[in-house]
Amino acid sequence: MKTIKTPIYDRLLDISSKNTIYFQLPGHHKRTNQFLDFNILPSFDTTETFGTDNLHEPEEIIFESMREVSRVYGSKESIYLVNGSTSGIHIAMMSVTKPGDSVLIQRNSHVSAYNGSILGRLNVEYIMPEYDSSIQLVGGIDVHKFKELIQNNRSIKACVLLHPSFYGVCSDLCEIIDIAHKNGVIVIVDEAHGPHLSFSDRLPKSAIELGADMVIHSAHKTLPSLTQTAVLHICSDRVNIDRVRSVSRLLQTTSPSYIFMTSIEKAVAYMDSFKGREDLDTLIGNINRFNESISKIDRIKLLGNKSESLFYDRDITKIHFEIEGIRGTDLIDILHRDYNINMEYADFRYVIGVTSVMNTEDDFKYLEDALGEIASNNTYDETEDLDMKLIEPKQIIPIYEAFNSENKTVKLVESVGSVSASYIIPYPPGIPQLAPGELITDEHVEIVEKYKDKGISIVGLNKDMIDIVGV
Ligand SMILES: Cc1ncc(COP(=O)(O)O)c(C=O)c1O
Repeated sequence: MKTIKTPIYDRLLDISSKNTIYFQLPGHHKRTNQFLDFNILPSFDTTETFGTDNLHEPEEIIFESMREVSRVYGSKESIYLVNGSTSGIHIAMMSVTKPGDSVLIQRNSHVSAYNGSILGRLNVEYIMPEYDSSIQLVGGIDVHKFKELIQNNRSIKACVLLHPSFYGVCSDLCEIIDIAHKNGVIVIVDEAHGPHLSFSDRLPKSAIELGADMVIHSAHKTLPSLTQTAVLHICSDRVNIDRVRSVSRLLQTTSPSYIFMTSIEKAVAYMDSFKGREDLDTLIGNINRFNESISKIDRIKLLGNKSESLFYDRDITKIHFEIEGIRGTDLIDILHRDYNINMEYADFRYVIGVTSVMNTEDDFKYLEDALGEIASNNTYDETEDLDMKLIEPKQIIPIYEAFNSENKTVKLVESVGSVSASYIIPYPPGIPQLAPGELITDEHVEIVEKYKDKGISIVGLNKDMIDIVGV
């Protein structure tokens, strides 16, 4: 009898047979250990049955487990998420707003913040992050600009901020939260990349400690936890917890994975233990030594102090380097192809690795040796720079209206002057340059041409065609 092909299984089997070193999600880096025992499958895969409680009406083990996690992080209440931070951002936004309300979103936010506005039918104001074209780096947000925006837009009910960004960049969140609260604005912080911050005082402070009202963590990004695992922390009385619970019931599955929930619980328990904190300290030491060593290699550059004006603080567990003359997007391929090292991400210039307590000293030594070899062997390429500046959006209609509108597909070059019904998101860096409801300008056509020339893929376009509002 003929059976169907199993391409996913086959490919993953092949990939897992390779001895790859990961500076990449998920945070467990595919290393099993006592706090993430993969052997629990399948016996821990269960449903709500005798003695297993219910995520949506937690009273017993899930209630107790979430209370322990809440205690570790210092939140008022924490809710497990089995569909990543994506669902946590949606739940947070919809919990503190009603359709037609206004929110302020950091423009370099993950697409889930944009989609949260579509789901919640929210009007959006954006705050642009700082940008330095000389080093093509998107920084944090400026406190004064934030204050001005909040004070000039009295209808803003909540803001969604990023801390840290994909590049580890942090804004002066303490000051920003204070301004927001003084102006009656609820602060939601997408801390998807920062669930480890609470476990070391050598790293930027977590938004929970800095006074945010709701904070979302992707446990799977920087803790040794399974993909999709995340936590929504409710941190202040400005948020109605009953409303959050109802929205969580609305947006999360009725069959949450107990493997996922166990994974969050075990990862947080480990991080909070003496061993976990010690391992994080060792990681930070390894990163500092790695940075010091590679900065001595000819052609290798780190972010260093050159970008201090761009951001307030940086999470160094996101390692970040460039080799002069080699595109970041090429370097990440070389590391994967020739050295079996998987980094998280590269843009035109930089390569970024997401480290976790699962990275050993040997991992860093191996990466350092590989970079030394590449820097000395490859010919100097004189790559030209690519300006990754974010285009100032011109909103014509609300994002949710554009998303739900009748639309048609036209060639991008012919769309100038129309209202977009889709996104233009270059990968890297994965930040929207155009969102639904915004005016398409010559600038969009120009940058898309430029990105395509440089081999950067664009989400939202289908063979140079774009959806616009109207029939
Ligand atoms: C900044 C940021 N926020 C949110 C998310 C969504 O997280 P998740 O994959 O856990 O849904 C991501 C995913 O990459 C992200 O980079």
